[in-house]
Amino acid sequence: MSKKETKEPAEIRINGKMAKVPVVVGTEGEVGLDIRRLRDELGAIALDPSFSNTGACRSAITYIDGEKGILRYRGIPIEELAEKSTFLEVAYLLIYGKLPDKTGIETFKTLITRHTMVHEDMKNFFANYPLTAHPMAIISSMACSLSSYYPESLVAKGQEDLDLTIARLIAKLPTIAAYSYKKTIGHPMIYPKNNLSYAANFIHMMFSVPAEEYALDPDVERALDILLILHADHEQNCSTSTVRMVGSSQANLFASIAAGICALWGRLHGGANAEVMEMLEAIRKAGGDVKKYIAQVKDGKSGIRLMGFGHRVYKNYDPRANIIKAMCHKLLKKLTVDDDLLKIAMELEDAAIKDSYFIQRKLYPNVDFYSGLIYRAIGIPTNMFTVMFALGRLPGWIAHWKEMREDPELKIGRPRQIYTGPKLTHYTPIEKR
Ligand code: CMC
Repeated sequence: MSKKETKEPAEIRINGKMAKVPVVVGTEGEVGLDIRRLRDELGAIALDPSFSNTGACRSAITYIDGEKGILRYRGIPIEELAEKSTFLEVAYLLIYGKLPDKTGIETFKTLITRHTMVHEDMKNFFANYPLTAHPMAIISSMACSLSSYYPESLVAKGQEDLDLTIARLIAKLPTIAAYSYKKTIGHPMIYPKNNLSYAANFIHMMFSVPAEEYALDPDVERALDILLILHADHEQNCSTSTVRMVGSSQANLFASIAAGICALWGRLHGGANAEVMEMLEAIRKAGGDVKKYIAQVKDGKSGIRLMGFGHRVYKNYDPRANIIKAMCHKLLKKLTVDDDLLKIAMELEDAAIKDSYFIQRKLYPNVDFYSGLIYRAIGIPTNMFTVMFALGRLPGWIAHWKEMREDPELKIGRPRQIYTGPKLTHYTPIEKR
């Protein structure tokens, strides 16, 4: 990890005292003030609720330029990876820092393929969830439960142990995800098939039944693989920061990933893809009037947001949204799916990007705006959309956890606060209150 500091430190003054603050510059010229000694020197902390302007680490994994709409994994543009790579190759790239050679990718694939089954006893867990259980509730607890089957991984001693834990997670999460879906529809669980690709195997476990094999469409398989690539990392987002925070206490990888899955569930994060679909359906039900919906979003009283729009970092088009939109048109045409929700989505996007409310606030479609329409065309139900996001984001979470644990500067994550409660006060006995 590069650790470059400019010659000139910044100067911060408060109450007649001054501190010199080191300036850290990233490889793409981003500038950060290293304020770690500020409290010792000036008695002040940095206050930045929601971390909108706080760097929590140095990271060499993913680069985003939100103003220009740039996203790169390990320096490689997302557009190139979506066109030329595969999800497992991207997972390797993110986790191990470089594109694998032929032996590297074959070894990685074989390791993952050999661990796709989950322990038979885990089926009992699925059996005892109510039919109404949300798949995100199931996969988050199953990810953590995996740690109970591999106690040796809790005290991983070296690279080989860690590689095995990483492979187990990447191999088993799709099996768990597909089982969680089968549970909700009352179907028997389908075992993985190791002669299939990662995406094809997932589709098989989702849609095959013992009575009938699912006829795999290679275009669907490729579309799913690309969607996984596009979701694979996004630097310090809410769920990744959660994984880092949990892992910083030296919690094991399974537990840290389970926490990341929970963070992803929220409607402002990975949960947005399901909310987009619900929003489009609600607009259709109300007669398809997108202008009326946009007016409701803008009036500020309804509390309604245009789901799938806006981003903390992108103040321009989300490059993932561009790729997904093009894919969505292509795949729906190929599958001869005439989805009126796609028409509503396009009308919504068109109306929003021309509207001063969205222009002024730099709100553009994000990764979640069109992805749901592809999932829907493939047959994935809405309550599985955020699970699909989790499957994609898994290598990114792992890469960040690993980078953090290998950082010699690692300390437990522990933010400060500005206390605003009562000053010293004394206990009042109940009869005097
Ligand atoms: N619809 C309407 N207004 C919006 C939206 C939206 N989707 N997003 C932001 N705004 C407005 C917001 O009301 C505020 O307006 P004002 O200045 O008048 O108060 C302004 O834009 C800035 O919003 P913010 O909430 O301060 O921005 P943020 O950076 O905290 O939020 C966000 C980012 C993604 C949570 C937000 O844009 C949002 O809620 N979007 C909808 C949910 C969504 O699509 N989430 C997926 C994000 S991409 C994938 C992922 O990371 O999981």
